[in-house]
Parts: sequence; C-alpha cells; structure tokens
Amino acid sequence: MSDKFIITPNGPLKGDVHISGAKNAVLPVLAATLLTGQQCLVQNVPNLSDVEAMCGLLESLGAGTRWDAVAGNLTVCAEGLDKHEAAYEWVGKLRASFLIIGPMLARLGRAKVPLPGGCAIGSRPVDLHLKGLAALGAEIEHAHGFISASASKLTGARIYLDFPSVGATESIMMAASLAQGQTILENCAVEPEIVDLANFLNAAGADIRGAGTDTVKINGTQTLRGVTHSVIPDRIEAGTFMVAAALTRGDIRLTNVMADHLKPVTAKLKEVNVSVAETEDGLRVFHDPCAEVIAADIKTMPYPGFPTDMQALFMSLMATAAGTSIITETVFENRFMQVGELKRMGAEIKIESRSAVIEGVAQLAGAQVNASDLRAGAALMLAALNAHGKTELHGAAHVDRGYCALDTRLNALGACVQRIS
Ligand code: EPZ
Repeated sequence: MSDKFIITPNGPLKGDVHISGAKNAVLPVLAATLLTGQQCLVQNVPNLSDVEAMCGLLESLGAGTRWDAVAGNLTVCAEGLDKHEAAYEWVGKLRASFLIIGPMLARLGRAKVPLPGGCAIGSRPVDLHLKGLAALGAEIEHAHGFISASASKLTGARIYLDFPSVGATESIMMAASLAQGQTILENCAVEPEIVDLANFLNAAGADIRGAGTDTVKINGTQTLRGVTHSVIPDRIEAGTFMVAAALTRGDIRLTNVMADHLKPVTAKLKEVNVSVAETEDGLRVFHDPCAEVIAADIKTMPYPGFPTDMQALFMSLMATAAGTSIITETVFENRFMQVGELKRMGAEIKIESRSAVIEGVAQLAGAQVNASDLRAGAALMLAALNAHGKTELHGAAHVDRGYCALDTRLNALGACVQRIS
C-alpha cells in the first residue's frame, strides 16, 4: 500500500460529478458471465482495481475478457471456461472472487475456490453461501483453505437464509438459474445490486421473479445466452460525494444516480440539516454555510435501512456536527477501524460494544492517518477536506479498490488532494 494522499483543506466543494457504475453490482455480474458460453457485454463498468482483479480471475479460469476502461465497456466470453479451480492468490486480491463458486458449480459441475479469509471489517464467513449450494444438491468439502463443491446436477430447493446476506443471495441465485426445477429463496437480501444481477440473468434467459423482495423464485433453465447489460449507478459512491458536499458546506450536483437507491442516505442528510433536492438528471446536495450540521443517531441495517458501507463516511460528518450522535453498526462485527484514525485528527469518539458515541467538535486537525479498508479510507479523506491543516492518508490502494479516481474527481470540485506514489 505504497501510494498516499496529501489532503489540504480548500473550502466548500462545488460543481457537478457523474457517478460511476456500481462496484457491488458489476462484481457479481462478472461472476455470472461464467454461466454462459456466449459473449457478454457489460456496460457502465467502473474503472476500479477490483474490476481488474475480477478480469484476471476470469481469465485464469479460461474465459476471455476485453475491457475498454475509458468507455466502461467490458466484454467477457466464458466459452473457454476449462478450469474449475481458482488460485489462492485471487482471494487475497478480491474477496468477491468467492462469487464464482455458484456459476462454476452450475456450469462445470464442480468448483474449487479458496476460502476467503477475514478482512479489516470482520470474519466474513461464507456459511450461508455453502448452505444454499448444498441445498441445491452440491457436495461441499473444506480442506487446506479451499472449498470444493461438486454436483452432477443441481436441483431446485426451498432455502431460508438465516441472515439476508447479499453474497449468499447472489451465489444461490446464480447457481439456481441452471438448476433443475424451482428454487424458492426466502429471507434473502433485497439490495439494488441483487435486482441488477437478476435483471442480467433474466436477460440471459433465466427465470427469476421477486428480486428486490425477501422471497425470490428461480425456475432453472438448461442454458443461458450472452447479453448486453449496463450496471446500475454506485449508490455508495454517490453517498460519498453527498457527504463530501455536506462536510465542506458545499453545493454539488450528482448525475447518473438513482435517487430511490439513496433514500436512507438522503433522509439522514436531511435529518442533520443538509439540503438534498432531486434535479431533472440527478440530485443536488448543498448546505447553507451559516446553518449548522446537527448530530443524529444512525443504525446500519440491510437495505432499505441505512447502508453499512456509508457508516464510516457518516461518522466523518458527525465528527464535527453540533451535538452527540450514536452510530450502531449491526451488519459487520468490526467496522469501526476508522475511529482510531479519526481520533488522531481530534475527533471525540467512544466505542461501546457495537456503538460509537461521537461528541461533535468544532473542527478536526490534519494528521498522518492510515486507511484500513475501502470505506474507512474514503471517510478519512473526506474528514481531511474540512480539517485544520494538512492530512497524509496512507493506503491509497484501499481507496482505489472501490472508487474510480476519487482524488481527481474531488479536485474537480475544488478539493486539494495530491497523490504521492
Ligand atoms: C456485500 O458484501 C458488499 N460487497 C459489501 O460491500 C457490503 O458491505 C455488504 O454486502 C453488505 O451490504 C460486495 O457486494 C462485493 P453480506 P457481502 O454477505 O456479500 C454475514 C464495500 O465496502 N454473513 O451481506 O460479503 C457477514 O459476516 C463492501 O463495498 C454470514 O454470516 O455481505 C456480515 O456480518 C464491504 N455468513 C453480514 O452477514 C455468510 O455466508 C453481511 O454480509 C455471509 C455473510
């Protein structure tokens, strides 16, 4: 993680920003391209190192990829899919690599994928993915850090998820698309990225109903065909720029956003006295410099609750809000890694079990801080925009995993973020 950012506060952010395609939509869609031997064209693909890693993984399995990162068009053809084993190196690069297990099992009848380790935000188990695949008839074996799954055929089943896991919903939906008979998936995730994946699969000939609700019915089909699919805008990237506008008391217009997907974030911004208005082509977020950003409590929940991926970003905003806020993280067990770093910048935060109590201070102070994960890194970058003095943010690679040129795009809005390689 050699690159770092030097952030020099430079006043309110103002201007327009075009939101990229969603990282958490494109990664499962790329995994799903393994379900067909025909060519797929994925559009609105964000230029992220996670996407680059996923392309590398698909090619290591025998698929071909061609990516025009500037145009955002990525072609995948998995006709040549001939390996059922993913090398250990991929799981270190990309946790979402585990999403290939369902498609490979459905397409080849077997898969051997490294068991993802934990990461900065928690242990990240995959038991719900495996329970679902076993219910469809797969033999699952865990040995030497790899998960091996095999099934001469997959048969539809009724599956109830203990927790509405996004990844498990995606794994089961993809595998069940080519299973024999009907799968009914209950208590599943309802995130917009699930709907986007279902739209991709249905365009390829799958028969999936109810995506976006907590019960999804999948009638398996024999094969799937190649499709062209444009991924949805990234609601977390949009939320990041919205918080940046609020933090710097600026005025930013976002285009290529789906306002519906941002309702929990918009509602919370309005609750803390930030203005959000729908425009003909997106959203405008602005804050009256004379008005105060006030404290509010947050509890992260599965969609449509307040997104866990926005928790660190909102904590940066609450760090200088008027009053005391309590942020409770219910989705991941260790997602307060940014707290220690924000405290180095002068934030007043106390962790009590799964909650953080934030006493707003007038202003943070620039410091040397470290990004432990993608959203914590972005949160620290935003906090630095409004601090007193320069901040050195180490671990730029974490930010690059999930944000396309965040530094450059913040600078286009008036920020002063310098990347030091
Ligand atoms: C997806 O992760 C996202 N990643 C995450 O975004 C996001 O935070 C998360 O969903 C929740 O919205 C991608 O889509 C690539 P989960 P995922 O399965 O699928 C537990 C970001 O910053 N769980 O819904 O891993 C798990 O431990 C990333 O962009 C099990 O117990 O999330 C966690 O506590 C971070 N067993 C909770 O469920 C399982 O088999 C939510 O996990 C699976 C999950």
